[in-house]
Amino acid sequence: MKIGGRVDKISDDGLGVLEAHGRKLHVPFAYPGDVIKARKVRRRFGRKLALDFELIEWSPLRQTPRCPHFGTCGGCLWQGLKYKAQLELKKDIFERVTGIKAEIKGSPRLWGFRNVSNFIVTSKGIGLKEYGNPLGVVDLEECPVFSKRTPEYLRSLTGFLRETGLRPWNLRAKSGEVHYLQVREGKFTGEVMVNLIAHVEPSGEVLEAFKGHFSFADSLYWSLKADKRDDPRGEAGLVAGEPYIRERVEDVAYLIHPNSFFQTNSYALPLLLKAVERFTDGERVLDLYSGVGTFGVWLGKRGFKVGGVEMNPFAVEMANRNAQINGVNAVFKVGKAEGTSIGDYDTVIVDPPRRGLKEAAELLVKSGVEKVVYVSCNPKAFKLDYERHLKKAYRIDGAVLIDMFPHTPHVEAVVELVRKE
Ligand SMILES: C[S@@+](CC[C@H](N)C(=O)[O-])C[C@H]1O[C@@H](n2cnc3c(N)ncnc32)[C@H](O)[C@@H]1O
Repeated sequence: MKIGGRVDKISDDGLGVLEAHGRKLHVPFAYPGDVIKARKVRRRFGRKLALDFELIEWSPLRQTPRCPHFGTCGGCLWQGLKYKAQLELKKDIFERVTGIKAEIKGSPRLWGFRNVSNFIVTSKGIGLKEYGNPLGVVDLEECPVFSKRTPEYLRSLTGFLRETGLRPWNLRAKSGEVHYLQVREGKFTGEVMVNLIAHVEPSGEVLEAFKGHFSFADSLYWSLKADKRDDPRGEAGLVAGEPYIRERVEDVAYLIHPNSFFQTNSYALPLLLKAVERFTDGERVLDLYSGVGTFGVWLGKRGFKVGGVEMNPFAVEMANRNAQINGVNAVFKVGKAEGTSIGDYDTVIVDPPRRGLKEAAELLVKSGVEKVVYVSCNPKAFKLDYERHLKKAYRIDGAVLIDMFPHTPHVEAVVELVRKE
């Protein structure tokens, strides 16, 4: 018996949901209002998932996706949804999870906004992972959310592999020589960084071929990967050009390096920075989980005295360089958030990893800090931190959502917490 019907909800992770025969069916790439018939149903992580479906009636929320790889590529689950509907659904999911009604600000650009892409280089193809299939790869022709230049980057890589005979990675056997091509673009500077992640040291000949095929790069890296994990990380070695590229966000410049995280949507980043700034009070600010100093340096430029704490020493080095090139009053130190004495700051900004604050939440409760600005890409972790800990000392005074991730169900939340009387 074929299962089908009208999708009437969206799950917290952005899948269409319909009720059929008293059971829920989750349908990736389907939206509220669609009528579908499932072709292939599997149980995954305790829920029924339609891996393929026939679209019988289009939801009025639908639009024609721009990308030819939509529906198989794991990058964009919501490209078939009109942008207004994407924003409404993000707001709804955030409210359902946290109980907070927040305004949402859309991304100023919907195409070409991502400043980084990690193309996996495999024996099955070069591109991005298939949705829901860790061993499947979409052999990419273009990527409209990343860059118009994607075909050029991929052509250079294919030419390089053909000339050198280096073997692409085999996901099943976990063997091969070239694993990822990472490309980063400074959207406001036009600078390009190319970083090849490989399991072998390059010979002199290979390096010459590498430089030849990627001569357009302002910064060219070869990263040696010693482990077999499937991620785009290795020991980065500069091959040619500059060690960093720059991104410019209004009056602030940020350095970008292969080993450091940078917010992925350059066009929406000013909205995020201004939301944080709007909620920041007083003079002295602590940027906790500071990364490369994205918030701290922006706030320093606006006259705040900034201290920052981050556990990754390389990110701290970058943050201090970012402070220096922008001439701002900000000092970043290596440390764990949960081991930081909070001191007499007027505002603490926290932007923890997906798992949330954990022990650091109690430090904030015990501190005398009046204002906490919580930046979160995981509303469930924020909810837990707030309900279990922060609520003892802080009330929620405001929140704004910034859409850093168009065509996906993700959103960045900035929540203003004020100490209770
Ligand atoms: C979501 S990123 C935020 C980075 C930065 N705010 C930005 O916008 O670029 C989280 C950062 O927290 C750091 N981190 C993770 N656990 C930490 C801990 N226990 N103490 C301090 N920093 C931590 C990570 O290295 C990472 O740089």
